[in-house]
Parts: sequence; structure tokens; C-alpha cells
Amino acid sequence: MKNLIFRNGDKLPILGLGTWKSKPGEVRKAVYWAIEAGYRHIDCAAIYQNEREVGQGIADALADGLVKRKDLFITSKLWNDSHRHEDVKPALEKTLSDLRLDNLDLYLVHWPIAFKPGVGFATHREEYYTYQDVPLTQTWEAMQEQKSAGLTKHIGVSNFNKQKLSELLAMDGEQPEMNQVELHPFLPQEKLVKFCSENGILMTAYSPLGSPDSRAERHKNDPRLLDNTVVSEIAKKHEVSAGQVLIAWSISRDIAVIPKSINQERIIENLKSAEITLDPRDLEALAAIGVSHRFVDGSIFTGPQSPYKLTDLFDQ
Ligand SMILES: NC(=O)c1ccc[n+]([C@@H]2O[C@H](COP(=O)([O-])OP(=O)(O)OC[C@H]3O[C@@H](n4cnc5c(N)ncnc54)[C@H](OP(=O)(O)O)[C@@H]3O)[C@@H](O)[C@H]2O)c1
Repeated sequence: MKNLIFRNGDKLPILGLGTWKSKPGEVRKAVYWAIEAGYRHIDCAAIYQNEREVGQGIADALADGLVKRKDLFITSKLWNDSHRHEDVKPALEKTLSDLRLDNLDLYLVHWPIAFKPGVGFATHREEYYTYQDVPLTQTWEAMQEQKSAGLTKHIGVSNFNKQKLSELLAMDGEQPEMNQVELHPFLPQEKLVKFCSENGILMTAYSPLGSPDSRAERHKNDPRLLDNTVVSEIAKKHEVSAGQVLIAWSISRDIAVIPKSINQERIIENLKSAEITLDPRDLEALAAIGVSHRFVDGSIFTGPQSPYKLTDLFDQ
């Protein structure tokens, strides 16, 4: 499998397993099956509320000798309620304890949005901090300290636009090594991809299949990426599934990709996407797909109750 290469030469396997919405009770096996099938990269987050079970799946695989810790690449994310300097280390230590690991390979600031300690999802104005209360630079300083202390090998961000990345790039010290954002043919984000590439920031594509299991009622009329006819025709041509075409699309752009599945067959199917080469005509057809859509639209963080605006998250 292709690897992406960090500035210090460390490798990131380009295809990993997503774990958002994978329920405790399902995800332990999913992680085990993934490692057994050959995945070496697992994407986690404290807010997914399943890191203990993910940790059990990893521990099972290590105990059974399927893999060595040094050959796994484990990512997790700092939740919005732990952005103050003094809250970053305890949040990372909780994640490490849940995952049963001594250190992470990559720790990301999950969103450029801060809540007060203990708030899962803020619903009232008083549950938020503003950028004046807790500047992103404060959080980033604490992230750098975790890397220096060896609790994580690499640090990065998620859901950061050009402006927010630029704030961190202007600081002294460690620059973000990764930006994990929503990326798929309905949202190729060419400008952000170019900006990250010019600044030596690797990227990871989340919701690569259009996140069909996160459709709340208000999203039920969203376009369906996996059913799109351009994607289906390419899948037919290569005798693969629509999901595999979408995963191969990210790999063709040298962007890491983390499809979520708790189903053993689909976990294996998705891994085989790394063997598919899309040809220039496929890529042209996907570039001209004619649908523009963001599935994870940030509205949950930016309603009238919030001091944050959509422009704090996404370039327009
Ligand atoms: N940084 C962030 O803010 C952020 C936001 C969103 C997601 N993420 C990360 O990115 C990962 C992936 O994104 P996502 O979970 O939103 O959605 P996704 O990977 O686009 O889609 C997952 C859904 O697709 C199904 N699926 C998996 N493989 C399939 C295949 N080959 N064919 C058809 N259906 C398939 C899964 O069902 P089964 O499980 O039943 O197979 C699940 O319903 C997350 O799990 C998380 O780790 C990060």
C-alpha cells in the first residue's frame, strides 16, 4: 500500500479505518477484522465515545500477534471542550488510557471551535469560548508540548480552512503536519488541497463515501454519493464497487482516506481499493460530476446560539 511521508520521513499508510458512529459492541471486532485484513491505520476521536472499545480491538490484535505496535498508525483528536492550554494534556492522556497506548502516531485538533470543559455539543451561548477567550494559538502551543513530551509523534488539525491554517503557520515552532477534512468528488476542495500541498501539510479525506449513516432527518434529501451514476459507471467498467471507486479517487490524489465500516466484508472490500488504478478518463468524469455538496456542514456549531460563523470553518 502507498504511504504518505511526514517531514521527518515517518510513513502514514494511505488507507485507514474510520470509527465515527461505530458503536461500542461493534467497533472492537471491526478494528480486529481491519488489522487482520491488513489495515495499519486507524482513525479515532474522543468524541466518538468508543475509544475504549477501539483500544480493546487493538489490544486483541496485538495479543494475537497479528501486528506489532510499531507497525500501526493510530490517530486521535482533541475535542472542542479541551482547547485551553491546561486541558490538552489530560484529554490526550484520557485518550491514551482508553486506547491502551503509550503514545499516538497523530493527534489532531478536531475543530477550530472551543467549548467550555465537559460540554459535548454546545446548545447555549454560555457553553462556548470565543477566540478571544481561548485563541487557537494557545491550543496549538499545548499540542506542540505533547509532541515534545513524546505523547504523540505527529500533530495536526481537522476542519481548518486556509485562514485558520495560516494563523498556525505564522507561529514559531511546529507547523501542522496534517489537515483532515471532508473530501470526495462532490467536495474536491482543490484550493485547500493546493494550499496544504504548498505548505507541506498532508491531508486526510473524511466521509469519503458521503457518510450515508450520518443522515439526520434534516439531511435525508442530501444527494447520495454511492448511488451517483458517474461513480456507478466507473465501478462497472473496473468491475469494482462504487465505494471502492471513491476510495481509489482519494488515493489517486495522494490524500489519505479513512472509510468507516463495521461490516467485515466491506472492511475487506474497502482495503482492496488500494489496488485499483483509476485512469485519466475516470478522473475527468469525476471532476465533472456536476454535484457540489458538503455532508458534514458544521451547522451544529454555528447556529444562532454560537459565537462562530461558517466562515470560521470553511472557505467560501
Ligand atoms: N475530522 C472530522 O471532523 C471527521 C468528520 C467525519 C468523519 N471523520 C472520520 O472519517 C471516517 C469516515 O467518514 P464517515 O464515517 O462520516 O463516513 P463514510 O466512511 O463516508 O461512510 C460510512 C458509511 O458507509 C458504509 N460503507 C462502508 N463501506 C462501504 C462500501 N464499500 N459500500 C457501501 N457502503 C459502505 C458504512 O456502513 P457499514 O459500517 O455498515 O459498512 C457507513 O454507513 C469517520 O468514521 C471518522 O473516522 C472525521
